[in-house]
Amino acid sequence: MTTTTTQTPREFPDTARVDAYDKVRGATRYGTDQNLPGMAYAMLAVARIGRGTVRSIDRSAAQAVPGVRLILTHEDVQGLASAGFILGGGYGVQSLQPLAGTAIAYSGQPIAIVVADTLEAATEAAAQVRATYDEAPFTVDFAAPGNRALPQADLPLPKPAFADKLRGDADAAYAAAPVRIEAQYRGPAQHANPIELLGTVAHWQGDALTVYESTQNSGALRHGLARQLAVAPEQVRVVSPSVGGGFGQKNSLQGHTVLVALAARRLGRPVKLGVTRGQVFNASGFRPASTHRLQLGADAAGRLQAITHEVQQQTSQHDLFPSSCTEISASMYACANFRGRESLVRTDTHTPGFMRGPWEHFTCFALESAMDELAHALGQDPVALRLANDTQVDPQSGKPFSSRHLAQCLTRGADRFGWARRSPAPGSMQAADGTLIGWGVAAGAYKAATAPAVARLRVSDDGRVRIDIGGHEMGQGIRTAVANTVAGVMQVPVRQVSVVLGDTRSVPQHLTAGSWGTATALPAALQAAEQAMAELAALNPSRRARTPAQILKAARTPFIEVESRHRAPGQPEQIYARLAQGLPSAAGPHYPEFAAFSYIAHFVEVRIEPHTRRVRVPRVVSVADCGRVASPRTARSQVQGGVVWGIGAALREVSEVDPRYGGFLNANLAEYVLPVNLDIGSIEADFIDEPDPRINHLGVKGLGEVVMTGVAPAIANAIFHATGKRLRDLPIRLEHLL
Ligand code: MOS
Repeated sequence: MTTTTTQTPREFPDTARVDAYDKVRGATRYGTDQNLPGMAYAMLAVARIGRGTVRSIDRSAAQAVPGVRLILTHEDVQGLASAGFILGGGYGVQSLQPLAGTAIAYSGQPIAIVVADTLEAATEAAAQVRATYDEAPFTVDFAAPGNRALPQADLPLPKPAFADKLRGDADAAYAAAPVRIEAQYRGPAQHANPIELLGTVAHWQGDALTVYESTQNSGALRHGLARQLAVAPEQVRVVSPSVGGGFGQKNSLQGHTVLVALAARRLGRPVKLGVTRGQVFNASGFRPASTHRLQLGADAAGRLQAITHEVQQQTSQHDLFPSSCTEISASMYACANFRGRESLVRTDTHTPGFMRGPWEHFTCFALESAMDELAHALGQDPVALRLANDTQVDPQSGKPFSSRHLAQCLTRGADRFGWARRSPAPGSMQAADGTLIGWGVAAGAYKAATAPAVARLRVSDDGRVRIDIGGHEMGQGIRTAVANTVAGVMQVPVRQVSVVLGDTRSVPQHLTAGSWGTATALPAALQAAEQAMAELAALNPSRRARTPAQILKAARTPFIEVESRHRAPGQPEQIYARLAQGLPSAAGPHYPEFAAFSYIAHFVEVRIEPHTRRVRVPRVVSVADCGRVASPRTARSQVQGGVVWGIGAALREVSEVDPRYGGFLNANLAEYVLPVNLDIGSIEADFIDEPDPRINHLGVKGLGEVVMTGVAPAIANAIFHATGKRLRDLPIRLEHLL
């Protein structure tokens, strides 16, 4: 840590995205945009059974397609090692490595990779790979009767993170509470659909492998591939400077990546694979289906006396994707008595994974719907109910919150929205043409996590600043936030700062996820910039030179370079060794001295057409508490993106399983329905912009995921207000409102 007196600006300038110009002129290079001399093209062939064993694969028809150069099946890569599941000490999206054996665990599991001179030939040949199977019974339906719910507390998962959460006596307090709400909420499986699909370009030069792949976790790709290919991590370079949408789907090593690397090694040519949209639905983590049963008990004034929260969540047969849902419900509101219990239900699918607000989105849907039900039962205003249960102390740990401005989010949002003009009775705000109008509110929360980061900064006598830092740009704006911070401290124009991200040849690369990217990178970037300024000041005792370039020229020093590291509060020094191994190293929300969350309040207007019952969302006002806003432009964009996704989650998105053949049925963008421009109205984003005094010296908490939490319940609550219908399952569709 350095200690200098440089002051960071109280407010950051509203800098445009530093990568905007490159993006709009098509200059940004995503993973599979790489084209290398002599490159061959790959396509996956996938299993079409729900579960079973490969008996034989006939590759003759595929081999006969002109231009085919290589076909790899399980016969060719016997014993291929798994990189391990990222939540089980490994690096991958799941522990199951396709082609490592004959077992088929789910429909869509790759059985072969076909490489040809052209994409067309590879595509045609992949369709000609013929497999026979011994089929086994399977279940893909999370809600099928007879599914067993495995209590998470009994499973081999880290404790206390995944233990039951108990405080006080929730059952007795609930039984004694004068006002009680009990309800069950059901959330569907969903798939993130970034514009950029999964894909890999693998290129060997001698024993050195370079992988171009858009990922949120180039460090895990490097170390996972090194394990699978039995080479040293130093022999693997992973390059991921820009990701065309991550959302958690590109969180760790995918099953196809090593297959592309193996094919490239055997062929002695670079190989490119693009995973198709349909294949992606069975290739990477999806939001698991879940069921949430909630009980809220309150006194007559609306103060919570008891909360119970029971969760059942989908996982695969081969991995435990745990539930963290009660982390939010246990800490959201003041309440002496809490019981949280989670169970997992195995299905014959790919292992579920991370999707924006993986647990928090649907937990907030359940909790904030239940709070609305409670407000209605009490005859209380739903904003007032939340304010009455606000707290500055985390009721679960007993520690103070690092900062919590949820009450201001609610009151400021109510103000901006015009909430005081709401007439509370359901159905009481119809328009002249019979359109039903509903106004709803809900809050959201997401942990304020932090990971360790290393920053290396070089300033040259031409005034250019280059900073290498741990982090991945997936459109959220981390490159802009880092450039903004460095430019502010060093007093150089933002365009003179270049930010190197996602490259394992640079500084160590940690998973960028969990909304910790900015809060992780910025403190290290700030320290590096301050350190450079201190060194420049030492070169400039007369203070005659004004800019870094002038100082370096006057001192006849072509450049200076500094390195800085930063870790989460309470993390030991050894965390940097974990970081260097590409392993997840984040901390939070529970730190030694405090608990830390970001918050948001959403106010939503819905308009429901009286005959078709079509729901529109013309107006949303969202006020976020993410600590200090480090990049106003991209922060507003994050809020708008999160609200759009929340509208999709409330009204559109569901991944339908196919109980006949396994896998997901609507595995395309025609049938996996997303909101489009016409579905989106006005989204006003506002920020409390109060630095968090404890989380880091910049006061920055996370933003990317909290923005989506609370949107769906605000919409459902607005629909209740418009219609008097309480809908507890997502997505809400026309037929539920007829
Ligand atoms: Mo995010 S769903 O934690 O990558």
